[in-house]
Amino acid sequence: MAGVETPRCARRVRLAAAFALTAMTMSLAACDAGAPGTAAAASEAASAAAGAAHSSAPAAVTASAAPAAAQAGQTRAQVYESVRQMTALGKQLFFDASLSGSGKLACASCHSPEHAFSPANVLSVQLGGSDMHRTGLRAAPTLKYLQSVPAFAEHYHESDDEGDESVDAGPTGGLTWDGRVDRGADQARIPLLSSFEMGSTPARVAAAVKAAPYADAFRAAFGEHVFDSDDATFKAVLQALETFEQTPEIFYPYTSKYDAYLAGNAQLTQAELRGLQLFNDEQKGNCASCHISQRTRDGAPPQFSDFGLIAIGVPRNRALPVNRDPHFYDLGACGPERTDLKGRAEFCGIFRTPTLRNVALKKSFFHNGIYHSLDQVVRFYAERDTNPGKFYPVSKGKVQKFDDLPQKYWANLNTDPPFDRKPGDKPVFDEAEIKDVVAFLNTLTDGYKAGGGLANVAAAK
Ligand code: HEC
Ligand code: HEC
Repeated sequence: MAGVETPRCARRVRLAAAFALTAMTMSLAACDAGAPGTAAAASEAASAAAGAAHSSAPAAVTASAAPAAAQAGQTRAQVYESVRQMTALGKQLFFDASLSGSGKLACASCHSPEHAFSPANVLSVQLGGSDMHRTGLRAAPTLKYLQSVPAFAEHYHESDDEGDESVDAGPTGGLTWDGRVDRGADQARIPLLSSFEMGSTPARVAAAVKAAPYADAFRAAFGEHVFDSDDATFKAVLQALETFEQTPEIFYPYTSKYDAYLAGNAQLTQAELRGLQLFNDEQKGNCASCHISQRTRDGAPPQFSDFGLIAIGVPRNRALPVNRDPHFYDLGACGPERTDLKGRAEFCGIFRTPTLRNVALKKSFFHNGIYHSLDQVVRFYAERDTNPGKFYPVSKGKVQKFDDLPQKYWANLNTDPPFDRKPGDKPVFDEAEIKDVVAFLNTLTDGYKAGGGLANVAAAK
């Protein structure tokens, strides 16, 4: 079934798109034949399957993503119907607090649809656990535009249509800040079972689903035997959540002002244009070197991330309870949440570059949620090295730079512009330029309507 995968197709295993069973077959066929036209058709079929009018998103999927109910031998109509059912169930599960140990926390509690599925409140880290007083160590990210995150690879070589294959872009991809899982279903298991998030168990989740108003719909979608064991029910829940997260018109609509601008349907203001220029300029912000702002060579819209895992030396967030222990460090890919790269020094301090699409809807920024405005974030990039005392603690007149990364890992820190300066140098942006970059970042919010500003973006309600 998987056929002969070209390196490109093998690498670009994306967040599994369960809806794209039909597309998957076509996608793989397209990979085998190396026919981009067919790949586009596959992507279209995928969008159509999920009821989307248009999405130019690539829709590569894994063979194992085939939904349980959508096995081989089904007609296209049956596959579409199965996807529709699973999407509807996934949506209900996403908003259902009864899946949690406390009965109070749903996925949507931390991933609010009005905020591009990031938190509605300004807390750096969200509250959870059985008493709703426990905290984790990381900010909850947006769930939009995850469909093009590639599977984690220690050495990532750009695919031939997007870059130079001979260049090793380093560790790339995977879901969560440290890239420790590749599939939406595997990811969903994490918050459901985490003691400081939903604090549930497969048995508790299964019981909640059996008692839910959508229990019959669940049986209809997954078959009579889905309630035979807690394990089977739990797996089906994870599958439905993954399918919901693949709904193009909700999770990757590409409807920002910047998308309209790229398509020639909107003009950016002078400030936004200056911001874009500063964002792209390799000697200034150089932001686009990691947060890609241009269409791919085959015309797909930019994701505003190259999905690389990078160390940029974000300051320690002393407001996090976990950081009261001076010996505790969140080192990203080398642990503690991720365990397979433990002890590999070159992976310490690196976190996955997030997309900047909808970033203006977020209320906390960076993996530890230390900043709460885009102005602060852009200022950090501009002045981290020229005026470090602004961001890091100063003790006895000495700045403790990179206070959240032990010195033995400092070699991992990125040193390209804008991180190529030293104290006293001119910051990469002046005050007016910081405002321009923030103005540009504000054009990346979905729901833009020409002339009318932002449309109502209450996507999933
Ligand atoms: C208590 C808050 C909380 C709840 C509840 C929660 N999440 Fe999250 N979510 C987070 C945090 C924090 C992260 C980042 C975790 C990390 O990097 O280790 C995250 C990460 C994710 C990611 C990966 C995003 C990326 O950029 O790779 C997905 C997908 C996701 N959550 C889906 C879900 C689903 C589905 C549910 C419900 C089953 C859920 N979350 C419940 C806080 C939460
Ligand atoms: C070397 C790669 C790189 C460059 C260059 C870069 N970024 Fe980032 N960006 C990252 C990484 C990695 C993170 C996450 C870091 C973390 O949380 O530890 C990030 C996070 C962010 C965030 C927070 C997003 C969120 O959801 O929390 C914003 C905003 C941002 N970058 C904007 C910019 C701007 C503006 C520039 C140019 C001035 C820029 N970045 C340059 C890699 C880069």
